[in-house]
Amino acid sequence: MRQAQTRDQLWAAVRHWRRAGSRIALVPTMGNLHDGHLALVAAAREHADRVITSIYVNPAQFGAGEDFERYPRTLDQDRRQLEAARCDLVFTPGDETVYPRGLGDSTRLKAAPSLANILEGASRPGHFDGVVTVVARLFNLVGPDVAVFGEKDYQQLLVIRRMVEDLGYPLRIVPVATVRSPRGLAMSSRNRYLDNDRLGAAEQLHSQLSAAVRRLAEAPADWPAVEQETRRGLEQTGLRVDYVAIRRAEDLAEPDGKDPHVRVLAAVWCGPTRLIDNLACRLQ
Ligand code: PAJ
Repeated sequence: MRQAQTRDQLWAAVRHWRRAGSRIALVPTMGNLHDGHLALVAAAREHADRVITSIYVNPAQFGAGEDFERYPRTLDQDRRQLEAARCDLVFTPGDETVYPRGLGDSTRLKAAPSLANILEGASRPGHFDGVVTVVARLFNLVGPDVAVFGEKDYQQLLVIRRMVEDLGYPLRIVPVATVRSPRGLAMSSRNRYLDNDRLGAAEQLHSQLSAAVRRLAEAPADWPAVEQETRRGLEQTGLRVDYVAIRRAEDLAEPDGKDPHVRVLAAVWCGPTRLIDNLACRLQ
């Protein structure tokens, strides 16, 4: 597996592969890789000849007081995992490559407000602007044919799809289903902040979302009541609820009785750690 840190190192590899007619997939990550990220790499291999995984903890998407400084940085371990997953190149740019003039004076993007200012965006103002800014920068540096994102961050997936559509990037977004621990907890780099007691509480997030999906199958018209019950269920397990929302899968608008495809989404605080998860469901 190759490693590139600078734009020139990256372009040398990409040029070489392009000349050989290879299709290139990009898997953007912030590192501290787990099986969820590796599922993205596996999906990327199915859609392209060459896979590039980027690792960059993007300061632009963290709010003041969030965990940017203590976000786990585990490059050696990440590299070993990517090598085993047969990734072709790991791109580990420094700040000077991503934001050449410094973040404070760089040109930034603003994510589509209807998608970016609700749910995660309401709790984390500016978060998705930071995400689209860095993802566009990565797309421009790599020029991939395919880019792979996890459904774990469902709202992020929609925001990025919209950016690709609005800005006309000539690439395809491939979504990958959420990878979970045997007890249902969605894999996340932030799980490492949880001690054993909190792990049990965190697993309730998936159980409560699954219960909501079962309730919706029985009584689809009752979705507002299911939201309330799910919120109460989460609170009873000791989690502090940020939001529970049942929204149209396509655009996160409220269900309208026409489009049956919805998503049950939630964010909770488990002690000092914020966790998100979501499940697909049909209202029919
Ligand atoms: P990060 O949290 O490292 O996640 C990188 C990718 O892995 C995202 O597409 C995310 O949805 C996916 N992912 C994380 N956990 C997953 C799981 N359990 N199952 C399946 N996929 C999972 O998301 C980001 O980084 C950043 O916002 C980024 C897009 C890299 C921009 O900085």
